[in-house]
Amino acid sequence: MKLPSGPQPYPIIGNMFDLGQNPHRSIANLSKIYGPLMTLKLGSITIIVISSPQLAKEALQKHDQSFYGRATPAVSQVHGHDKVSMIWLPTTDIRWRVLRRICKNHMFSQQKLDETQVLRQESLRKLRDYMKDCCDFGRVVDVSSMACSISLNLITSSLFSRDLSQFDSGPNVFMDIVKALIQGVSTANIADYFPVFKFVDPQGIKRRAKAYVGKMFAILDDIISQRSEARRQDSALITNDILDVLLDFSQRSSESELPQNQIKHLLMDLILAGTEATAITVEWIMAELIRNPEKMAKARNELQTLIGSDKQVQESDISRLPYLNAVVKESIRLHPVGPLLIPHKAEVDLEMCGYLIPKNANVMVNVWAIGRDPRIWHNPERFEPERFLDGKIDFKGHDFELIPFGSGRRICPGLPLANRTVHLVVANMIHNFNWKLQGEKKPQELDMNDKFAFSLHKALPLQAIPIRLS
Ligand code: HEM
Repeated sequence: MKLPSGPQPYPIIGNMFDLGQNPHRSIANLSKIYGPLMTLKLGSITIIVISSPQLAKEALQKHDQSFYGRATPAVSQVHGHDKVSMIWLPTTDIRWRVLRRICKNHMFSQQKLDETQVLRQESLRKLRDYMKDCCDFGRVVDVSSMACSISLNLITSSLFSRDLSQFDSGPNVFMDIVKALIQGVSTANIADYFPVFKFVDPQGIKRRAKAYVGKMFAILDDIISQRSEARRQDSALITNDILDVLLDFSQRSSESELPQNQIKHLLMDLILAGTEATAITVEWIMAELIRNPEKMAKARNELQTLIGSDKQVQESDISRLPYLNAVVKESIRLHPVGPLLIPHKAEVDLEMCGYLIPKNANVMVNVWAIGRDPRIWHNPERFEPERFLDGKIDFKGHDFELIPFGSGRRICPGLPLANRTVHLVVANMIHNFNWKLQGEKKPQELDMNDKFAFSLHKALPLQAIPIRLS
């Protein structure tokens, strides 16, 4: 059986030069020539790229049993993280199944999210206060960094009832560690593509990551032991946040299911995977709304009509805000955080559409290309939330033309939390505020270029001025 076709690889480096700085775009262009199932070579790694909803469905649903692995990057191996991490374990590993079950049933179930929403309300109150301050002093807001802070705070307050980031520019120790670790995972590491470098660390990525993971574990260990101590002393102190759930679980269940020393690995995965994805999503939505003031006005009118300007939006309000829901879907269609998902790994040889998908190949789904395919979307480059108002398409993994959270077994476990936090943050940022760009810059002049660094960032961080409306 033949491999799917693809551009001719160069010796040793393969197609590295074909990909350039924006692989999601170059891969989309190559797929126009070689088709929706394509082979690329990156160093010694075979990559299979999927660029149509039909094939994405086949790969993520039908062949879910075969594409269950992850190619673990060298950086994931520090502190033995890849051996216990939900992100990097294969789905056949019992530990992966236990972690996913805990996420689904105990951490991100509707009931648990309803119980923890009070923790997130406090973080949102601080966000509103910060924006009011910026209005009073006419300060420019770095929306990118504000989105990072509120996303981190919403996640850590849900996890262990603490905000670990401030909105002002003071020292931000935890956030700096989070950013350094995300940068470590996002940097292309030649050791991942050329086995000859496997046992060295030519760019020092592993060495730096080891130090930062050590710092993060020290903070998380401290939080976990303080909580364990408080629980021993006085059961009334139990906060019923996710850390309490995890401690209950590790005490209740047999040690092999969730040993207490693995809780910090799980918390780190959730913090790293959740913070950046939520922050980037919020920043793109705000950029689209600022560039399209009439859409921002429509979303704000909906909030003022259905919620009222004197009330705060609650998580239970989200489902009755159709225009806001459509805005979020439309922005995620255009700017999926993981344009190529997190690559899956084929664990066996298998056949797809008469072609061989070889064991150990990395399988990428070009969600970005699917979201802009003119055969699927009318005027795909335009920001038109109205296209989603009929409510027929959702991003929860069943409609393969819109799968920014993936689909199948490896679908993002944080989706239920992200769905609440993204809507809530954007609602809070526009409900009683308008936004304008600095100086005389017109909305249409806002730079919307993207930058690929594992995730799809806005190339120029969004800066804008909030104006208080009431
Ligand atoms: C808008 C926000 C988010 C987006 C767009 C997003 C997207 C994704 C995507 C595309 C994947 C990979 C799916 C695949 O492998 O096919 C993923 C995996 C993951 N996400 Fe999210 N995510 C978001 C928020 C969150 C949050 C808030 C959390 C947790 C607090 C989270 C935790 C994870 C974890 C742990 C994985 C790995 C799961 C596994 O491999 O089994 N994500 N996410």
